[in-house]
Amino acid sequence: MKLGEIDFGGNLILAPMAGVSDIGFRDVCSYFGADATYSEMLSARAMLHNPKKTSLMTIYSEMERVKIGQIFGHEPEIMAQAISNPLLNHYQIIDINMGCPAPKIVKNGEGSALLKDLPLASKIISTCVKASDRPVSVKIRLGFDHDNSLEIGRMCQESGASFVTLHARTTEQGYSGFADYESIARLKSALKIPVIGNGDVVDEKSYAQMLATGVDGVMIGRGAQGNPFIFSKLKGLDYDDDILKVIKRHIEILRKYYDEDFITKYMRKHLLWYAHFLKGEERIKVATSPSIDDSIEIIARNITK
Ligand SMILES: Cc1cc2nc3c(=O)[nH]c(=O)nc-3n(C[C@H](O)[C@H](O)[C@H](O)COP(=O)(O)O)c2cc1C
Repeated sequence: MKLGEIDFGGNLILAPMAGVSDIGFRDVCSYFGADATYSEMLSARAMLHNPKKTSLMTIYSEMERVKIGQIFGHEPEIMAQAISNPLLNHYQIIDINMGCPAPKIVKNGEGSALLKDLPLASKIISTCVKASDRPVSVKIRLGFDHDNSLEIGRMCQESGASFVTLHARTTEQGYSGFADYESIARLKSALKIPVIGNGDVVDEKSYAQMLATGVDGVMIGRGAQGNPFIFSKLKGLDYDDDILKVIKRHIEILRKYYDEDFITKYMRKHLLWYAHFLKGEERIKVATSPSIDDSIEIIARNITK
């Protein structure tokens, strides 16, 4: 995928995942072939009032290629101001979150709540596009409670978005059911701007099904959890699937920025994803261990079983 001067080099994109896509995870996914990476969603308001809180969420690894910073909010002017915050300087693209279904975001009229208020959504996009020296993209769902993705996608295009990413579920669906690839294909044929398809790509088969929609790029979220190799695999590249090496690299990067106590608790979910083969007692130990090195040892002991 190409966007003016910005060459993605390929079509595989790591999804933004709040509480998951930390700098270490983005690094290992990039190492295994993710062509573009997103930040976790960043509050436009927080950037204005409490930039310190946001700054750790905007650090990046040299391994990352096309870097996309995602913001969320509901006030056009505040979002436009956020774009010029120096914290976002290194992102080549700014993305606007219009897909988050989390109740605490939706109740503020942010994330996917904007799919119920297309005039405001359009105002946000056009104000951000005007204020930005970089392309502005939008991440959407099919709709809030029904599929009106064509109307939403056209609105994004008319408001100046450079591309849209469609997670093909409604907000009401949350993560249940399956992503609707037919809607992705329909949107792709209706728009002039590139469309990135998202939802349930976890292996070669689902990747081929997503590509058959004609999309310009494919975004992968949960399929990469504990499995950064997915990017190499889908690219048909040779890769070393040594999970211990990946875990150690992920942690080594986090140790440059975070204290051990935070990393120990934070990494538990990632360790359990990486070590999907762990069962019973050993799994519980990793889920509760006060020492990350002990957890690594447990995983190492079980790796060949
Ligand atoms: C834990 C988690 C956190 C997420 N955080 C974000 C986010 O910050 N911004 C966003 O646009 N989408 C977020 N998403 C949605 C994903 O980017 C993606 O659209 C969704 O998981 C569907 O893709 P998948 O089936 O490949 O996982 C999140 C998803 C998960 C599971």
